[in-house]
Amino acid sequence: MSEAKATARYRPETRLVHSGALRSQYGETSESIFLTQGFVYDSAEQCEARFKGEEQGFLYSRCSNPNVSMFERRMIDQEGAEAARATATGMAAVTTAILAPLKAGDHVVAAKALFGSCRYVVEDLLPRYGIQSTLVDGLDLDQWRRAMRPNTRTCFLESPTNPTLDVLDISAIAEIAHQGGARLVVDNVFATPIWQSPLSLGADVVVYSATKHIDGQGRCLGGIILSSESFIAEHIHNFMRQTGPSMSPFNAWVLLKGLETLGVRVKAQTESAAKIADVLARHPKVTRLIYPGRADHPQAETVKKQMRAGSTLIGFEVKGGKAGAFRCLNALKISRISNNLGDAKSLVTHPATTTHQRLPPEARAELGISEGFIRFSAGLEHADDLVEDFEQALEQV
Ligand SMILES: Cc1ncc(COP(=O)(O)O)c(C=O)c1O
Repeated sequence: MSEAKATARYRPETRLVHSGALRSQYGETSESIFLTQGFVYDSAEQCEARFKGEEQGFLYSRCSNPNVSMFERRMIDQEGAEAARATATGMAAVTTAILAPLKAGDHVVAAKALFGSCRYVVEDLLPRYGIQSTLVDGLDLDQWRRAMRPNTRTCFLESPTNPTLDVLDISAIAEIAHQGGARLVVDNVFATPIWQSPLSLGADVVVYSATKHIDGQGRCLGGIILSSESFIAEHIHNFMRQTGPSMSPFNAWVLLKGLETLGVRVKAQTESAAKIADVLARHPKVTRLIYPGRADHPQAETVKKQMRAGSTLIGFEVKGGKAGAFRCLNALKISRISNNLGDAKSLVTHPATTTHQRLPPEARAELGISEGFIRFSAGLEHADDLVEDFEQALEQV
């Protein structure tokens, strides 16, 4: 196996195509799939040396695999991290990044506005193991400061948030975390590696659901944790090796190929989202429109400071509450109803009855998830077709 030439000096688009590629003696153009559970050794001595870590190489695909390593390497280069571990799903990445370094008696502070399952991990799961957690309004820096305790080890946020697209000030929150002796973990799913680099803003750990834009064609689940060499070595590597939330080699191959087109897809999807957001903002049936690329976004200054562009996602509220939202969703002909996002196909979600249905109505109201609220994830269709589809669907509201 030979490794692709060093690509760190190239621009992101080039790195996303070439970084981390391993090529066999056959000189294949497209990376091969190493669909193997295990590996064989030339001698018992070599096997012993691998197990002792005295010789580099693969042991077993729960620990590492050539495709998983290629995917990790390409993401490390894109994100400006030192090390990474890929996981079976985005939730495996979030759960591992938060849980693996902690022990009973530790404390976590997190923003309230989280994807439903992330909120479950922080709010319900951690306390069962003696790890207390405090949820704060992520936009209110004083709440972050007040929530910090001497035993706070981890702060956690996503930005933009799912589904109301609040943009949290990552560098300010990183500073609060660091002053309190804690690390900041950022879920960067909604921003994508194309538009936001949390490590460069002061975050210590970045997590992704690779299921979303990184695959981008709705095929495979996956996740990844990116951080410093020491964080991955001390807290993540052994936990993953022993407990096994690892990525499958096939999924790693699909996601690696997904990275080759990530930049062009996310740019095209963001352009369409911006165009549709402008149309929705003027529409009489739309009572609220949130799009991080617009000047009227409530945190437009923070967007400018930490993101390179808007988003592939739009949040909007229609007249008529749940009935109005359902009429709009059911009338759309191109955008499909789904709880997923980041796909080549445009997708619409009703968060109150799907991703956030577990929350009591008061908690949803606090987050701005009303009954009429819809999340739209722009796909790769022509923007004018999507606009026309929304115009005809909103007539039904
Ligand atoms: C912000 C965010 N984080 C994490 C996840 C979990 O990812 P996965 O579905 O790959 O487990 C999701 C999934 O929708 C998400 O939207």
